[in-house]
Amino acid sequence: MKLFEATGLSKRFGEQVVLEDITLSCDEGELVGIMGPNGAGKTTCFNVLTGRFKPDRGTVRFAGQDITGLAPREVARRGISRSFQIMNLFDDYTALDNVLVATPRVRAQGFNPWRDLGADRGAQEEAAQVLAQVGLAGKERVQARSLSYGERRALEIGVALAARPRMLFLDEPTAGLGAEGTARLAELVAGLRRHLTIMIIEHDMKFLFSLADRISVIHWGQVIAQGTPDELRRNEWVARSNLGALA
Ligand SMILES: Nc1ncnc2c1ncn2[C@@H]1O[C@H](COP(=O)(O)OP(=O)(O)OP(=O)(O)O)[C@@H](O)[C@H]1O
Ligand SMILES: [Mg+2]
Repeated sequence: MKLFEATGLSKRFGEQVVLEDITLSCDEGELVGIMGPNGAGKTTCFNVLTGRFKPDRGTVRFAGQDITGLAPREVARRGISRSFQIMNLFDDYTALDNVLVATPRVRAQGFNPWRDLGADRGAQEEAAQVLAQVGLAGKERVQARSLSYGERRALEIGVALAARPRMLFLDEPTAGLGAEGTARLAELVAGLRRHLTIMIIEHDMKFLFSLADRISVIHWGQVIAQGTPDELRRNEWVARSNLGALA
């Protein structure tokens, strides 16, 4: 049985068909990549997979359960976390507090920015471990706004990891990173994949081809090609697009 399985997903916004019969799946422990041109429907696909939008047709199954159309918080409770294409941090909070407010034990108490987050030692300890996992040990007390761009992207992944997910969705994690930042992120993702199932949307083909077990190409809201990095290098669409040249 697949850990994650989306079948026949379709989604339209008014007259515009954005997803048309998308089928994707992921085994436990696999790292699956999604690539495709701007506006192809990749982020919308993630939004449907993680509960932000209900699909018009199709089903999403996770760990043997039908999660189609569940609210984002219900999807998260079942073990799915995601990061966003546009960063989503509390700039005035420290790195530690950004992770802390995303941990299940703090969320369960309801979000209250005036509560003393520092009072819960166990939760603090847990959040510090997550920061270490994303390479931010030593930055616990630094305000999110004072972190470098690369550190902020890593913190975003930390926020997603705070929920201790079984599966992680990352939407263009290398966006805006230079070569050095991208290399560091590749190392981070390579570490995470040892104990997590991961799906990544990515424009950086060198990054994606070096990490992914399998890749799906989405174009005009459809999966137009699917395969291992080696298979896709030989794919006509990938070869023709400038994306293929980079891989
Ligand atoms: N909430 C929405 N309402 C209406 N149209 C939307 C909505 N979200 C996305 N779209 C449209 O769906 C299409 C696909 O957008 P989407 O953001 O999924 O593309 P993408 O593949 O992630 O692109 P990019 O690589 O630029 O991030 C676009 O034409 C976009 O304008
Ligand atoms: Mg997108």
